[in-house]
Amino acid sequence: MPIDPKPKDAALQFLAAVPSQPFQHTLEMARKVAPFDTSILITGETGVGKEVIARYIHSASRRAGYSMLSVNCGALPETLLESELFGHRAGSFTGAVRDRNGLFEQAARGTILLDEIGDISLSTQVKLLRVLQEREILRIGESIPRKVDTRIIAATNRNLEQAVTEGRFREDLLYRLRVIEIVVPPLRERPQDILPLTDYLVQKLSVRLGIPNLRLDDSCLKRFRAYYWPGNVRELENAIERAAVLSGTGEIKPEHLPPQLLDPGGSRQHVDSAPSRSLREVEMNYIRTVLKATGGHRGQAAKILGISPATLWRKLKNE
Ligand SMILES: Nc1ncnc2c1ncn2[C@@H]1O[C@H](COP(=O)(O)OP(=O)(O)OP(=O)(O)O)[C@@H](O)[C@H]1O
Ligand SMILES: [Mg+2]
Repeated sequence: MPIDPKPKDAALQFLAAVPSQPFQHTLEMARKVAPFDTSILITGETGVGKEVIARYIHSASRRAGYSMLSVNCGALPETLLESELFGHRAGSFTGAVRDRNGLFEQAARGTILLDEIGDISLSTQVKLLRVLQEREILRIGESIPRKVDTRIIAATNRNLEQAVTEGRFREDLLYRLRVIEIVVPPLRERPQDILPLTDYLVQKLSVRLGIPNLRLDDSCLKRFRAYYWPGNVRELENAIERAAVLSGTGEIKPEHLPPQLLDPGGSRQHVDSAPSRSLREVEMNYIRTVLKATGGHRGQAAKILGISPATLWRKLKNE
């Protein structure tokens, strides 16, 4: 029996009221699929709000009174990830000291978010396919499957079709996961959302940072609208947080914004009127912009750039 199912509006509590048509379309899709147990694949660039949409779906579903657990599939090596997801029996591998149930069981009657699904190994993909088909899991080291009642939402910022072509992702798993695909549009494609998101984030950060009079100069908004936002809403949030801290008084002015927002050349991707730069220069310039946007976080930067962290490392070393 569900414990205190939340009223429908409460499902929107962690979402800013954003008006753009592309985002409203995303929300409408989420609203439609929420009541069903269908698997969902949420796609979109890094920082667009994929997890926020997953939370919305969970909160608007009949599973709302139970847990939604999230796992970043890209952050763990294969054995650890499998033990995290499916659980294990004591002694099944070094370090497995006692029996443990995995996230699928912990999120019973609730939802599991498999974040960065594009990063899982082919052998874990087989196991996941089994969960989707049979609705049962096998704890590592056990041979009798256990039934699970957990809704699966997967998210990725990678192109899974391309991963299928390259043999890194199973086609059957993609079809199973993508019964419904929800695309979250990048921030640059919905400029109308920048103002309401900014208001929402300023309020949220004002509480979190304990700066009651936090506000933003109008000229900052102009910069926000002109910028390309490779890191999307997360980058917007980070930019406001940084500026709030640097402002001292809580009055955010353009000089408190991160440098990439002040550099007109670093704004929208543009083509020089009299081209004179080599591809390498343009590439390094963009890499630097993205690194600034992620606060120097190379893993996140590599994701935005669509290259592996090793490739990014090499490019920076050869600079
Ligand atoms: N519509 C929105 N309303 C309020 N906050 C939002 C909205 N969209 C995104 N955010 C905020 O932006 C940040 C990034 O969102 P989220 O973690 O959902 O992105 P993501 O797409 O899962 O990113 P990644 O690809 O890096 O995993 C979070 O702090 C989230 O609260
Ligand atoms: Mg995420």
